[in-house]
Amino acid sequence: MQNDKELLHNLWYVALPGHQLRVGKMLAKKILGQDVLLGRTQEGKVFALRDFCPHRGVPLRYGKFDGKEIECCYHGWCFNSEGKCTKIPSLTPEDKTDISRIKTQSFPCREVDGNIWVFVPPPKSRVPEQLPEIPSSPITMTKFSWVDSVTFPCNIDHAVIGLMDPSHGPFVHASWWWRSQRSMHLKEKKFAPVGYGFKMVNHKPSSNSRAYKILGGGEKTTEISFQLPGLRTEHISIGKHHIVLLTALTPIDADTTELHQFMYSTIPLVNILKPLLVLFGKAFIRQDLEIVKKQQEGLSGDHPSLMLLGDADAQALWYYRLKKDFLEAQQNNMPFENRLPEKTLRWCS
Ligand code: FES
Ligand SMILES: [Fe+2]
Repeated sequence: MQNDKELLHNLWYVALPGHQLRVGKMLAKKILGQDVLLGRTQEGKVFALRDFCPHRGVPLRYGKFDGKEIECCYHGWCFNSEGKCTKIPSLTPEDKTDISRIKTQSFPCREVDGNIWVFVPPPKSRVPEQLPEIPSSPITMTKFSWVDSVTFPCNIDHAVIGLMDPSHGPFVHASWWWRSQRSMHLKEKKFAPVGYGFKMVNHKPSSNSRAYKILGGGEKTTEISFQLPGLRTEHISIGKHHIVLLTALTPIDADTTELHQFMYSTIPLVNILKPLLVLFGKAFIRQDLEIVKKQQEGLSGDHPSLMLLGDADAQALWYYRLKKDFLEAQQNNMPFENRLPEKTLRWCS
């Protein structure tokens, strides 16, 4: 399973933060190696099509979009936001061809909590009738903020493991504004299976994070969850207030992964400090990016088998197990069953 670079289809992926796609505009992206054209209609509705004209294959992104239909730049065939052909200029009025049967593939696409999500089936496959739910923010959030989107030069597996890896913090993220290596201590956290993943059950945040100390007031708890394909949600409650950090990983292809970081908060102080927090968030992600670049240097050439050791790496093993079970369920046309154990993990960080 490890190092096979397999990508998971038939799941929702964050394509991009919603504000990056304006009304009447389209934007091309590669997602799981497939060319996807995203667009937002005049009415503000988002859509996603295969970026390919079924006539002679020119990508539709080179065409014109009037907020309703995309006109291919080669022979002017037009497609609506469902991918249906609406016009073929070269046809004579007498021609009886039913052009509505001509289609470019459309992907399920929704905007939730300010993010645009696309459901990605395997190439050349139909979208299943029943779609899983989009894992939205655990509480209703009005204040939304995008922190950053960064491209990691690695397969999603390494990106996920880096995201859930509890023991790199004191080394990669040691900074005056976050934590020092000296504050390392034994941690014990309870985990439980949930949905397509697992969660670190509600706990008091570790006392060595300076950021928590500034927020003050009320009881503080944190719940961190991970869900396939690569979604990490950290929900911090302070009294009646909430902060939610959502990290979404989306493979561009087998060797490149995009990371989108969002922050939602109901705390007035957090929203005032937003520009500063966004700076810290970006710095944090850059630290992860730098270590991934170094790791890729080490992994180029022959592909050594790597080690996952002790409780600190247990979440990485769980990820591989979830992935294997998900792929098997898909192959056998069976519903996915989460077989992870409930377990308390202990590590130093
Ligand atoms: S290739 Fe698109 S209209 Fe001909
Ligand atoms: Fe990190």
